Amino acid sequence: MSYAIVGFGAVGRALAHAFARKNIKVAVASRRPPEALAPQARAIGPTVVAKSLRDALEADTIILAVPFGEHREVAKALPSWKGKTVIDAMNALVPLEELDGLPSSAFVAKAFTGAKFVKGFNHLIAATLAADPIVEGGHRVVFLSSDDEDATAPVAALAKQLGFAPVKLGKLNEGGALVHARGRTWGPLIFQDLFKKEQ
Ligand SMILES: NC(=O)c1ccc[n+]([C@@H]2O[C@H](COP(=O)([O-])OP(=O)(O)OC[C@H]3O[C@@H](n4cnc5c(N)ncnc54)[C@H](OP(=O)(O)O)[C@@H]3O)[C@@H](O)[C@H]2O)c1
Repeated sequence: MSYAIVGFGAVGRALAHAFARKNIKVAVASRRPPEALAPQARAIGPTVVAKSLRDALEADTIILAVPFGEHREVAKALPSWKGKTVIDAMNALVPLEELDGLPSSAFVAKAFTGAKFVKGFNHLIAATLAADPIVEGGHRVVFLSSDDEDATAPVAALAKQLGFAPVKLGKLNEGGALVHARGRTWGPLIFQDLFKKEQ
């Protein structure tokens, strides 16, 4: 599997720390050229490699960590998303009417036609997401939701590899609603920093 994070702001860097902690290679990209991102990427760890957006999108699994309104620009950068897994770490603080009444990730998924689409890593503030997810023998929980059950398993495996405890919430408009920002209202699980103890 190959991984890329699109967006190298607070959340993109937090996730890059998680990959670096486990020595997992990850490309990072934004609208800026890779040379502009490289010093910060290198400072996070040797497995974090700054690339152009086009090169980063060659990865199998792409994490969206851009402002919600920018997702369409990212989607346009590839002619087809078939065969890709897209993880939506964004929160949409826009009125529901602007989302055609859909959960934000279902709205975003429409722009990434053909991709296996999973919402995840969005419910924690960036500083918490950047911290070591292993605390007192427990693993920090991340919530995953998707309308495609097959898409969730590899993302859960990645979350585990990164040291998190993935909790599957089911479909985007069912359990996934618990981690969705809806207009100015936060889903009840957003910001809940939970841990799962080893069993
Ligand atoms: N901050 C948090 O605590 C937090 C927590 C959970 C979820 N989120 C969600 O995560 C997402 C990112 O938040 P953030 O706080 O990390 O934002 P941020 O600090 O403003 O970073 C956004 C990043 O996206 C890049 N970007 C913007 N437009 C782009 C485009 N069209 N193509 C490629 N890269 C683009 C920006 O870099 P360039 O300007 O160089 O392109 C920047 O690196 C948002 O959807 C937010 O709701 C944030």
